Amino acid sequence: MNILVTGGAGYIGSHVVKLLLEKGKDNITVIDNLVTGFKSTINDLKKIRAFDFIEADLSNWDEIKGIFKSRQFDVIIHFAASLIVPESVKNPLKYYLNNTANTANLINLANEYKVEKFIFSSTAAVYGEPTKEEIGGGIDENFPTKPINPYGQSKLFSEKIIQDTAKANPKFKYLIFRYFNVAGASPDLVIGQKSKNATHLIKVAAECATGKRDKMYIFGDDYPTPDGTGVRDYIHVLDLAFAHIQAIDYLDSNRSSIFNVGYSKGASVKKVIETMKKVSGVDFRVEIGKRRDGDPAILIAKNDKILKEMKWKPQYDSLEFICKTAYEWEKRY
Ligand SMILES: NC(=O)c1ccc[n+]([C@@H]2O[C@H](COP(=O)([O-])OP(=O)(O)OC[C@H]3O[C@@H](n4cnc5c(N)ncnc54)[C@H](O)[C@@H]3O)[C@@H](O)[C@H]2O)c1
Repeated sequence: MNILVTGGAGYIGSHVVKLLLEKGKDNITVIDNLVTGFKSTINDLKKIRAFDFIEADLSNWDEIKGIFKSRQFDVIIHFAASLIVPESVKNPLKYYLNNTANTANLINLANEYKVEKFIFSSTAAVYGEPTKEEIGGGIDENFPTKPINPYGQSKLFSEKIIQDTAKANPKFKYLIFRYFNVAGASPDLVIGQKSKNATHLIKVAAECATGKRDKMYIFGDDYPTPDGTGVRDYIHVLDLAFAHIQAIDYLDSNRSSIFNVGYSKGASVKKVIETMKKVSGVDFRVEIGKRRDGDPAILIAKNDKILKEMKWKPQYDSLEFICKTAYEWEKRY
């Protein structure tokens, strides 16, 4: 089994590569341009087991084609992307080029070089800004997709390209994972989230708890939620990574599909901050700021489909554990 991982030097990709290496997979190739990924992460992963790392940019289509020409792949796990929502509003073309055009090129190469399995990182951002009434008991995979920013749109376009390709070429199978809010670190602290200027709540709270930031903001405390702050479905990065490992075998005997990946429960911003303070024992400064554009009040996955069809069994479904691993990692990093 020859596996190509794009974006494997990044946060989520590196956790998947780690699991693959621990499972004894030894034909892994990682392509990453290190724009937001880290060579040090690759070096830490190489201590587990050898694999090939190619520093290349997916926008260099000739170079990427050369890689496909010289190597055989059975599966592509495609994480590489740009993912900062406000940046996508300011610079939409960066997102359509990096996330959509480069994905289209990758799929084109997959077809040309007969790679039949494609696993794609999509996002809850494809659902846009659902209202409380629309959400009801949570968001399932049939919920209308109405992205409200170019990031979400760039991922939705990629989903369509993947689906249309599979319709035209029945040998090409895909799994699209729509991630909710990913957080935490590998419990052995070998790797974790290194992202610079992070905007992810748990990462920011961990940076406050370790004194790397002097304060943080709650963006809006007047939402129609129990404590007035936004509610999100936080998933531990390793549970998400497990889903990718399962996906490889799943595609041998099952059809292409789209799965939400979350725990089907939410935590408010205040709850997350309180939990980070509890696990760290540090009472860092928090201020109330204005709401940010495009932040829905509540975003919670319905995960019935992945639980039933993939028999995915989350192991780290605990906000305390997520915050604890994020904090311990931040202390170490
Ligand atoms: N982090 C989250 O909460 C979250 C939520 C939903 C979806 N996602 C999706 O998960 C995927 C991984 O996200 P992450 O949090 O690990 O981000 P990340 O920035 O840590 O990882 C992305 C990796 O892709 C690489 N990359 C980007 N553009 C590239 C290019 N043109 N060529 C080669 N390499 C390139 C980066 O250097 C980085 O290593 C993304 O597709 C993202 O849209 C993430």
